[in-house]
Amino acid sequence: MKLVDPKIQNPALRLVGAQADKMNLECYVIGGWVRDLLLGRHSEDIDIVVVGSGISLAEAVAGQLRGAHLSVFKTYGTAQVKTRDIELEFVGARRESYRHDSRNPIVEDGTLEEDQNRRDFTINALAICLNSDRYGELLDPFGGIQDMADKIIRTPLDPDITFSDDPLRMMRAIRFATQLGFDIHPDTLDAIRRNAERINIITKERIADELNKIMLSPKPSIGWYLLDETGLLPLIFPEFAALKGIETVEGRGHKDVFRHTLQVLDNVAEVSDKLWLRWAALLHDIGKPKSKAWDNEAGWTFRNHNYIGAKMIPRIFKAMKLPQNEKMDYVIKLVDLHMRPINLIEDTVTDSAVRRLLFEAGDDIDDLMQLCHADITSRNQQKVERFHRNFELVSRKMRELEERDRIRNFQPPVKGEEIMQLLHLEPCAIVGELKTAVKDAILDGIIPNEYEPAKEYLLKLAKEKGLL
Ligand code: CTP
Repeated sequence: MKLVDPKIQNPALRLVGAQADKMNLECYVIGGWVRDLLLGRHSEDIDIVVVGSGISLAEAVAGQLRGAHLSVFKTYGTAQVKTRDIELEFVGARRESYRHDSRNPIVEDGTLEEDQNRRDFTINALAICLNSDRYGELLDPFGGIQDMADKIIRTPLDPDITFSDDPLRMMRAIRFATQLGFDIHPDTLDAIRRNAERINIITKERIADELNKIMLSPKPSIGWYLLDETGLLPLIFPEFAALKGIETVEGRGHKDVFRHTLQVLDNVAEVSDKLWLRWAALLHDIGKPKSKAWDNEAGWTFRNHNYIGAKMIPRIFKAMKLPQNEKMDYVIKLVDLHMRPINLIEDTVTDSAVRRLLFEAGDDIDDLMQLCHADITSRNQQKVERFHRNFELVSRKMRELEERDRIRNFQPPVKGEEIMQLLHLEPCAIVGELKTAVKDAILDGIIPNEYEPAKEYLLKLAKEKGLL
């Protein structure tokens, strides 16, 4: 791997170094920003380690940078300086040790080297000096540069110590491997297996952050396979671990749903950056283990797995501290509807069925179609091509109907209020029934999606029911 030249041109960092000189302090830019600089990636937060007080250097720097805002966190010994275009985090060099039963470390002042020691991975322990006489000097005590070139994630110390200090680092190792396409060093990987149970002391929110970063990586399956391989998966997401394996009856096995799902996830990741579409891909078959049945004639069946899966999602999102809002509703909707397009192409495609799908999916129809394309993972290339072609036919039909009938964000043209006024009704069940009947008539193509014909149809129905 070719690394980028670590020249740092940033004027704000020059200023920090000059200020540190004046105060007779050693200071370094360290961690993720240095890693990303060398890898040619963009990174927002700049972490600065000061041998001495990080807070006093931050205060002095804030006084010199125009429009700077200073926040001091005395308890943590850290300070942040923020301007319109830069965010600098200052901290004194620290030595840390953790007790076995707690995430709260005992922190003492330390040297730069001690500070680098306590960091998670060699590629995250690199520091660049900012003092004027050594400006730009790279300090790499653990061979982080070599590991970057070899694409290796490895802890600077004995991995059992590094992971025991902060078990979230096991997830971080897997996340970096997935984001950067690196391998985890075998000793580091073994230590994750040994320490996996310790993930239980980490909050679900921090785990969810790492999972989202895995999900947003170019090939998210890498992370999920590593989570499985290391034994972390059943601890953090048991419902997904349950998709693993193939059962056989009378010599007939079913598809391995775990592998299939990860293929679908990667397929979606190739065409979309949308985090929640990717989650929908991961969860689309989550109901399969619960719905699995053997039928002597049909073989393996997974009836209603879409519906069962959609129903499982609120509990999963709650347990994993994923957002329980419109993002979750979107995932539920996609999981629920994911079999509809494929069922459509298996039957003859009626306008009415397409209109109903458009109505139910609304603005998410394009995402749903992306998920359905991604869901075709058969090894039979001819079959795959046939399915994609048929989906194209469905999509074309959707576009035609949408142009004509504007179903996607369809609001029934006669509202409940108006029905009550026209028929002199109080709010009651009949109003709802009439509204649904008008909606169905539009979706079934009996009347166009327009006000006058809808009103006429309503009055006709009302007469038939003896309401007029
Ligand atoms: N760090 C660590 N152990 C952790 C978290 C962070 O040792 N559990 C150290 C690493 O040196 C890391 C630095 O703190 O580079 C900054 O952490 P953070 O901002 O959380 O992550 P980054 O490495 O910057 O990566 P990203 O921004 O992608 O999360």
